[in-house]
Amino acid sequence: MTQFSTKSIHSGDHLRKTTDIAPPIHVSTTYSYDSNPANLIPGELTNPDTFVYSRENHPNAAAIEAIVEDITGYPAIVYNSGLSAFNAVMMHVNPKTIAIGQAYHGCIGIVEMWQRNFGLRKIDIESDDQSDLLHLETPVNPYGLYFDISKYAEKAHSKGALLSIDSTFAPPPLIDPFKFGADIVIHSATKFFGGHSDLLAGLVLVKSHDIKNKFLKDRLVLGTNIGNLESALLVRSLRTLELRVKRQSKTAEFIVKFLNENKHKIKDLEKIYHGSLQNDDYISEQMNGHTPVFSIELVSEEKAKEFPSKLKYFYHATSLGGVESLIEWRAMSDPHISKKLLRISIGLEDPRDLLQDLLNGLVDNQELTDKVRSLNIDY
Ligand SMILES: Cc1ncc(COP(=O)(O)O)c(C=O)c1O
Repeated sequence: MTQFSTKSIHSGDHLRKTTDIAPPIHVSTTYSYDSNPANLIPGELTNPDTFVYSRENHPNAAAIEAIVEDITGYPAIVYNSGLSAFNAVMMHVNPKTIAIGQAYHGCIGIVEMWQRNFGLRKIDIESDDQSDLLHLETPVNPYGLYFDISKYAEKAHSKGALLSIDSTFAPPPLIDPFKFGADIVIHSATKFFGGHSDLLAGLVLVKSHDIKNKFLKDRLVLGTNIGNLESALLVRSLRTLELRVKRQSKTAEFIVKFLNENKHKIKDLEKIYHGSLQNDDYISEQMNGHTPVFSIELVSEEKAKEFPSKLKYFYHATSLGGVESLIEWRAMSDPHISKKLLRISIGLEDPRDLLQDLLNGLVDNQELTDKVRSLNIDY
């Protein structure tokens, strides 16, 4: 059977229109119809082989979907952002009641617009009340903590509701949410799928091509297909997805482990949040490696605000999943979060350099520096 990394490079090969090895950038918004009148079929849209207009489909959007479908095993629809992907799920399901817990503030913003405009009822994900859609973010932003997908699938399905999972923090190959009962999966592909902090994109994965076709019809009218230029960048990024994600995951686990084991020697460090520190049984069954994102809380707001400016290799910026490590004083994006909290996204730098950088900003301790120097990481 063909494996992940081979698929991520070759699964779009049958769609190549040119002999270019690197994915070419197709800028056209419109495409010529077939020159044979016999092939002119009224209303023939959303067919990956017959491009008509780029809001409907274009070569690299089709390539992205072919590759993502092959690596995940599920029909995929690509969007111009993660929030477009989430809103597409809302449009498709059209819930009257949504059950949602801690989630990305933008997704909550969309739910609030639906409450305002369409009278949507919002209940907590732990509520036993009836809902039509249960939306679970796992691993959850900004903590990188896990929830048991099987448990929420059972809860949703026992009441006839659908379960959607925002798996942005755990892209393939870290988890397959469908295996544990998800009905719909979304990703902000701006993050790990894109991986280079240079494109905005979103993905929805569904369970059948019939459902995918409904999403495609909505996407055409909503105008939320990925842009031509971004799609070429995303095809480029998919080629290294597995390599990047596995390494980012291992580095994050390595850094979290060290910080946690030496926490008592780092007086400014109050808390570490990461799935690798959770002990629940379902985690080893569901996760195939840990999320590369974690959060820390320092002892005071003042220290947390100051910390990013002390670092050499972590840019102080929002977002995650790129090759560059980022740290964010999270209150900048989410005013409701603890003012002592910093979200950290691990990139592709050497784990020892990243760890030493964090330690330099936290504590002056030669013993810890020597310890880091002696560490080896086996990828
Ligand atoms: C968990 C999660 N879901 C959805 C989104 C929205 O994605 P985008 O910024 O691509 O619209 C984000 C963005 O940070 C996110 O972190």
